[in-house]
Parts: sequence; structure tokens; C-alpha cells
Amino acid sequence: MKTAMMALLFVASTANAHVTALEDFTSKPVLADLRDLRALNIPVFAKNEEVQVGYAHITPLMQQRIQERAHKVGKCGGFEDLSHEALFFSTDFEKVLNDLADIQTKNELYEKVPFKLLALNKKPEIEAALTEVSESNLRSYVQWLTSFPSRGSQSAEPNRHVSEMKVRLEAMLGSATIPYEISEIKHSGTKQNTLHVRLLGSEKPNEIIVLGGHLDSINQSWGGGKNAPGADDNASGSANLIETLRIIMEKPQPKRTIEFFWYAAEESGLIGSAEIAKSYKASNKDVIAVLQLDMTLYPGSGEFVIGSMTDFTSAWLRDYLKAMNDTYLHAKIVDDKCGYGCSDHASWNRQGYPALMPFEADFRGKNGSIHSSKDVISPQLNFKHSALYTKIAIVMAMDLANSDARQPY
Ligand code: BES
Ligand code: ZN
Repeated sequence: MKTAMMALLFVASTANAHVTALEDFTSKPVLADLRDLRALNIPVFAKNEEVQVGYAHITPLMQQRIQERAHKVGKCGGFEDLSHEALFFSTDFEKVLNDLADIQTKNELYEKVPFKLLALNKKPEIEAALTEVSESNLRSYVQWLTSFPSRGSQSAEPNRHVSEMKVRLEAMLGSATIPYEISEIKHSGTKQNTLHVRLLGSEKPNEIIVLGGHLDSINQSWGGGKNAPGADDNASGSANLIETLRIIMEKPQPKRTIEFFWYAAEESGLIGSAEIAKSYKASNKDVIAVLQLDMTLYPGSGEFVIGSMTDFTSAWLRDYLKAMNDTYLHAKIVDDKCGYGCSDHASWNRQGYPALMPFEADFRGKNGSIHSSKDVISPQLNFKHSALYTKIAIVMAMDLANSDARQPY
């Protein structure tokens, strides 16, 4: 009897130990910087030297090491989580890497073409719309979004701010003159929903301009409170999009459809945008351009200096940004890189859609307070600077959505 009890206890305790061990070694599939993976001796299952991206399965400990290394060189997370794609069970990762390299090659070829888009014709109605951008509106949207203790996809109430924002947008859209739809998109990889507004195009409703940014926030700091106000990351880009919608919804109906996305669970690995971009590709949707606004309030390279991220974006759209800048913005544009799929533009780029990511500064000039309870409205955050990014979205909504231009490759 006693031995039987002992045996049972033994089984129970080893079973427990086994469960703990399993948890410790649970790995997830990621795309990460090849140099980080190599430096840390993490086995790489597939790689692409051209884009310096590797596919690996990482344990929590490996994840911590990658993050430590990334932080040292000024990156945030340093990897893109692919768990939600269930690539673990397929060999699709080879294709993922090859597709990325193809896109890169085409962009590089395009960059070598000597005569491209030279200028945008100045349109008075666009100039007028740009003067409507209100810094005090931006401030009040950011104030409201940061009043939630967290907008995290893994927080206690991951959809509280999403449904409250939907109510606010519905009220605002009461005065829209363009036909619209508003909805919450549910996901399989997260409990959090994406908020979606579609302004229907008149002549070419199947051609889509996507204007997006992530609405979720995160606190990754050790100690120092649990709140995730995410003022810069990314109440700022979210606010730019609200202000864009407010201004363009009463303008004449655009020829192309404009879709706004306030994405879910970006901070947990681009989950919301990855599902959406994948489903758009699967149903063959004709997405002409994707604008990603993520962090627009901290002028870390100077007021009116815009960082244009050159990785996971379209060379054609980066040119378009420069042309728009010459005609309407008169800011300074500097090219830089994240070095990894740092935001939702990477989800669209991976499906072959042209994406653009104008950032608050060059990579080194980024706000150092993000992902902590310190990411709040402060004198360092500059709403005049942030207003610029609203203007980028407005030009895309009023110029590109009324043209025939598309990526020529
Ligand atoms: N806003 C950041 C991305 C960012 C940070 C861009 C600093 C440029 C400079 C974004 O919300 C983020 O934190 N992304 C994650 C990666 C994602 C795949 C989880 C990151 O950078 O760690
Ligand atoms: Zn962000």
C-alpha cells in the first residue's frame, strides 16, 4: 500500500516536472534578423541572405536573449512572431523567405530606373484639406486613448477601448457624406478585435487604399508599473487616422475605396494585420497602397524630419512620399531601416502589397520611453510634428485614391 502510494506520488511529481519542463521548452516559429540568430547560436531552419532574415523556432530563453541583443543595438523586440500562421506544421517558411526576397529584388530594380514619378500636381482642394488638421484634436484623441490603463491584447479587457472607440467613430460618421461601413473584425490568434472603417469608392471600388496603425499598447518594462498608456506607441498614429477620417469623410467621394484599420495585437507579433493581409490576399483584393502610422509624436531627429523605413516597404511608395513632400509637406525625409518587420506594414509587404512607413524620426531618434508606463503625453511629444503624418494620410486619401497610379512592378 505504502509503496503504491509512493509510486503514485512519484508519478504525480514527475508528471508535474514534465509539464514544467515542457512549458520551458515550448518554442514558437519566428522570423528574425539572421545576424542575431547566428550570434546567439540559434538553429536556423531556413534563411535568406539577401534580406538577412532567418526562420527559427525559439524558446522563451532564446527570445529573451534576442530581445537583450536587440535592445543593445537600439531595436525593440527584434523578431516577428509567426505562431498564428501555424507554419510550424508546414514548410511554407521557405516560400515566405523567397517571397520576401522577390519583393526586395523588384524594389531594388525599380530604384535603379532613372525616370520615375517626378512630382504631384498641386490641387487646391487638397491644400485646403491639409489646413483643417487640428493639433488640439490630435491631443484630445491621444489623451482619451491613454486614459485606459492598457490597450494590451492580453490585458483584462482587451476590447474595452475598441468598442468605446467604435461608438465614438459612429457618432462622428453621422456627418459623413461618403458611403461607409464600420465594423469590429474578430481574429483567431487574439481575443482583441481590429476596428475597421471602409469609405466606398465611386468609380473603382475594388481598388483599395489602406490607412492603418495599431491601437494596442504594451508594457514590457521590468518594474516601474503595469500601465501601458502607449501615447506615442501608438495612440499617436491611431489619432492621426481618426483626424484623417474626420476631415475626408465630408469630402467628395473618392474614386477608389479607402479602408481604415486600427489593428489588434500588433505588439504580440503583428497578429491582427497578419490575419487581415492574408485574407485580403486569399480573396485576391486589389490593394494599391498601405500606409502604416506607428509612432508619430516624438521628433527625435528634429521637428519636421520624417524617417522613411526602407525595409518591408515599397520603393514606389517611398518615391510617392518624396513627391508628396515636395508638393505639400515641405518636411525633410530621411531613409532608414528597422532591420526587422517592426510594425504592421510588414504583414502587408509579406503578402506582396505595396506598403509605406513614415516614422517619427530616423531609427536612432526614436522615442526611448515606449513599451513602459512612461509613454505618456509630455513636453517632448510634439503635436505639430505629428500633424505631418495626418497630412500624409490625407494626401493618400485625396490624391492617390483619385488617381490611376499603381506600383509599376
Ligand atoms: N512601434 C513599434 C515599432 C518600432 C519601434 C518601430 C521603434 C521603430 C522604432 C512596434 O509597436 C513594436 O514594438 N514592434 C515590435 C515588433 C513586433 C513584431 C512585436 C518591436 O519592435 O519589438
Ligand atoms: Zn508600435
